[in-house]
Amino acid sequence: MEVGQLIIIPLFLLLLDHSMGQLRRTPITRQINQNKTHANVKAEKILLAAKYFLVDRQSSQTTQVLANGFNLEYTIRLCIGTPPQCFNLQFDTGSSDLWVPSVKCSSTNEACQKHNKYNSSASSSHVEDGKGFSIQYGSGSLSGFLSTDTVDIDGMVIRNQTFAEAIDEPGSAFVNTIFDGIIGMAFASISGGVTTPFDNIIRQGLVKHPVFSVYLRRDGTSQSGGEVIWGGIDRSIYRGCINYVPVSMPAYWQFTANSVKIEGILLCNGCQAIADTGTSLIAVPLRAYKAINKVLNATDAGDGEAFVDCSSLCRLPNVNLNIGGTTYTLTPKDYIYKVQADNNQTLCLSGFTYLQGNLLWILGDIFLGKVYTVFDVGKERIGFAKLKKHSSYRVYASSYVKEPSSYGIDYPFYGDEYSRFFT
Ligand SMILES: *[C@@H]1O[C@H](CO)[C@@H](O)[C@H](O)[C@H]1NC(C)=O
Ligand SMILES: *[C@@H]1O[C@H](CO)[C@@H](O)[C@H](O)[C@H]1NC(C)=O
Ligand SMILES: *[C@@H]1O[C@H](CO)[C@@H](O)[C@H](O)[C@H]1NC(C)=O
Ligand SMILES: *[C@@H]1O[C@H](CO)[C@@H](O)[C@H](O)[C@H]1NC(C)=O
Ligand SMILES: *[C@@H]1O[C@H](CO)[C@@H](O)[C@H](O)[C@H]1NC(C)=O
Repeated sequence: MEVGQLIIIPLFLLLLDHSMGQLRRTPITRQINQNKTHANVKAEKILLAAKYFLVDRQSSQTTQVLANGFNLEYTIRLCIGTPPQCFNLQFDTGSSDLWVPSVKCSSTNEACQKHNKYNSSASSSHVEDGKGFSIQYGSGSLSGFLSTDTVDIDGMVIRNQTFAEAIDEPGSAFVNTIFDGIIGMAFASISGGVTTPFDNIIRQGLVKHPVFSVYLRRDGTSQSGGEVIWGGIDRSIYRGCINYVPVSMPAYWQFTANSVKIEGILLCNGCQAIADTGTSLIAVPLRAYKAINKVLNATDAGDGEAFVDCSSLCRLPNVNLNIGGTTYTLTPKDYIYKVQADNNQTLCLSGFTYLQGNLLWILGDIFLGKVYTVFDVGKERIGFAKLKKHSSYRVYASSYVKEPSSYGIDYPFYGDEYSRFFT
């Protein structure tokens, strides 16, 4: 009899563990077959400069600027309103706004006309707000007004979410993007006073823990480019430990990197870095940019983009980033992009770029594609772990999949800290 009881107890705990460990998951779609062109890279840099409030030199030279943002590859699907109107949104940890094109945009705005548009009149749950909204880019702005409605991410229903309806999209930046709009996943301090989707998710109790985690597949397909895991972490995705560092300032996902080295040369010693899923590049301060180019024998085209000899790829060194005592290695395969020149020639572009005035290490998909990243809003910290080989973990196609292990071990006192943070 006593033996039987001993068996019953762990079984009960096991069941409890499973029900508590339920996580919501959203697949990330990756644009495949994209051909990066020089113009795409330029456009991406202008968008990046705008996000970090930097003035990109190119943008003040008017003309070609803001060409399409094809580089920006990773999207999630999200629906707004009742009945739902669905959109593909760029999943952007480098900003905090949620915007979609509006049915009220001008018939001559090509970017708007080529994408899905939100029609507030067709949604019974729409609540008017009407406040103005605008994001300034080098040569133009994305503008519109705020609205409030129900937002549904794979069955996770956020009520009362305020977002922007864009009625004017600048230049041709957004014309050919695979995404209709953007969902910003950074902190509310840069959202212009609007409660961000993730803060609403937390406040409305839609996740057990105020955390989301992400991996991006560099070899991803249009079906599975990675996943967002809402409310926790999935141990089957990474190996070793999650290495956490504090967020330096809750605005962007900004933290201190211990060092960055290339061939023993110290490029940064305690520098400020940002995890930004919304860029494909790594933007670095000028001194580091010059030092990297020197080692790579890369030629700066005069605009913060550097090209290497495509035949030298196998000789290029690794770049090692040390974050919180753990070293993450980027190989030339990770940081060199093949781009098409206007004459159809293939060029080898270094993923390390420079934006005028930028002092940060903005780590885009080149880095984030190598790791599993935990965005811990509640504890204001960010964690990185090394990914298992893709073949060794399952890619889930839908939400509500049970977590194989308990989140509780990593967060023994989470409840308390969570309430402190939000009161
Ligand atoms: C990219 O180039 C390849 C080969 O030239 C072509 O097959 C593919 O359709 C192109 N993709 C896009 C999105 O233009
Ligand atoms: C918006 O929705 C309303 C109500 O369903 C409909 O009458 C109107 O035609 C729609 N507008 C556009 C531009 O599709
Ligand atoms: C909706 O959110 C706003 C702030 O974003 C808040 O002032 C308002 O009380 C909320 N309304 C409901 C019904 O939750
Ligand atoms: C860069 O150029 C120098 C001098 O020509 C050469 O010794 C070195 O191997 C080159 N490095 C790479 C990575 O090609
Ligand atoms: C580049 O390739 C495209 C399609 O493959 C072709 O239409 C165009 O004429 C080519 N341009 C040059 C300069 O060769």
